[in-house]
Amino acid sequence: MDSIQSTVLSNDARPHFRPRTGARSGLPPCSIIEPAEERPAARRRIPLCETTLGSQQKSLAVDMTSLWHRFVERGDASRRGAIVEALARERVRTHALASGEAAGPGILFFDEVNQPFCDLVRETSRNGLERVLAVAIPQTAVTGTGVWRLLRNGASDVFAWDHSTHPAREIAARFERWQKVDEVVASPVVGENLVGNNPGWISVLRQIVEVAIFTDASVLITGESGTGKELVARLIHSLDTQRQKRDLVVLDCTTIVPELSGSEFFGHERGAFTGAVAARDGAFALANAGTLFLDEVGELPLTLQAELLRVVQERTYRRVGSNVWQQTDFRLVCATNRDLLQEESQGRFRRDLYYRIAAWTCKLPSLRDHPEDILPLAEHFLRHLRPNHEPEMDQAVRDYLCQRAYPGNVRDLKQVVSRMSYRHVGPGPLTAGDIPQEERPTLDAAPSEWRDGSFEAAIGRAVGMGIGLKEISHTAVDTAIRIAVASASGNLSRAARQLGVTDRALQMRRAARRKGANGKDSDVAPEQFEDSA
Ligand SMILES: Nc1ncnc2c1ncn2[C@@H]1O[C@H](COP(=O)(O)OP(=O)(O)OP(=O)(O)O)[C@@H](O)[C@H]1O
Ligand SMILES: [Mg+2]
Repeated sequence: MDSIQSTVLSNDARPHFRPRTGARSGLPPCSIIEPAEERPAARRRIPLCETTLGSQQKSLAVDMTSLWHRFVERGDASRRGAIVEALARERVRTHALASGEAAGPGILFFDEVNQPFCDLVRETSRNGLERVLAVAIPQTAVTGTGVWRLLRNGASDVFAWDHSTHPAREIAARFERWQKVDEVVASPVVGENLVGNNPGWISVLRQIVEVAIFTDASVLITGESGTGKELVARLIHSLDTQRQKRDLVVLDCTTIVPELSGSEFFGHERGAFTGAVAARDGAFALANAGTLFLDEVGELPLTLQAELLRVVQERTYRRVGSNVWQQTDFRLVCATNRDLLQEESQGRFRRDLYYRIAAWTCKLPSLRDHPEDILPLAEHFLRHLRPNHEPEMDQAVRDYLCQRAYPGNVRDLKQVVSRMSYRHVGPGPLTAGDIPQEERPTLDAAPSEWRDGSFEAAIGRAVGMGIGLKEISHTAVDTAIRIAVASASGNLSRAARQLGVTDRALQMRRAARRKGANGKDSDVAPEQFEDSA
């Protein structure tokens, strides 16, 4: 029966993380929710985040007085006034977006989807980091592909003011939900466990938080090895307010032995088979009122997939050796680094099981798709490895980490940082000498190596989607700036040096972006950015 590594993580095993009532921050207390691999086998019972999110949600006073609005349309002033008043009646008090204002969440009203408006959406939403709702006046402004263009540029939602009788109420409901989700994403329970600020990563986190808190849907987490699938599964369990937070039961499907799997999943009666000296609960019983996490679900043998259909669909099962149907109730979370739909098309995964386990799917990005998170992640790991020291790295180490490839994703990065940390002596930042010999970069790396397949693929996707050259160049420049500024810890001079431009050129480009956010077309084109170097 040891063939399956099943873990029961009970609330009782978490003495250190009971909810602290009356905690002054009002935020949920949190702990590290490390995946199994980093723990010694004997310590499978680890503390999980104990959250008070359920009660916190109910008391969240949604503040919708700091929203901005901007009308980018040719309507008359009285109509605009009526819209603003209708919003105020639903407690959505907005102010006109002032020029130069550091924007937060807001509403853009528009009557045409064109490139300047897409740029405005991108700038005001900071590529989707801020919640920006695009509202069409009139409805005809959102026909064809316009909606998708706006969503792609960072709008959180797009609809027409006159598409229903209560548009202001809809807008209020949207922002209320988004605010609740964003508060949880910004809380320590998420931020101290799942690190990252990249817009794509934040968007994935928001979806995870939303599905965990507001639904009890089965979730399928996909992504390459080391992208944080198990961490996310644990987060979903710890945020789940639908159940009274019973156990998280982890089953690693790679270690399943078909002959014993029935008992491990369903449990067995005494005498059901040779060696069954006592009745035993299986994973489905243990996960009752909690979460069942099927890790590496793509490895499940086909015969077992068929056996799981009923319990996954109806939450009823029979123990091995029994005719009595038992009831259970759990949230199902599965993870895999395989493409299950492709597996299905090749007959290796049952389509009916796929649709039962994937009520909601979430694909975690590879680390190469959010490189600006490399340094924050490295600092996060250093903080845990050297709790009494500042997580400092000198520039050579920072450059090395940013330029290195991470085929094993975040796990890979964590290992590199650990190795450097083991070598590091004394106070002060980690230095180049701390990088293990075999890890050091070779000097003969070809300068064109960075234009690899993923670069080609991203540009290919953009071209295929009809994105114009201007947007592609702007995006490339903005991404390079964001990464360089992050790598230089916000030091603009250092970032400018790294990018080979003058401080002034970098500042101009950033100012132009801010101007763009205020609805004016950016007056520094990427080529000017180059020229001003
Ligand atoms: N966003 C993140 N923030 C902090 N740590 C992370 C993050 N993503 C992954 N990690 C860390 O990286 C390591 C690998 O994560 P995890 O085991 O969850 O990956 P996985 O996707 O399940 O990998 P595999 O497919 O190989 O099982 C863990 O130590 C985890 O704590
Ligand atoms: Mg895993």
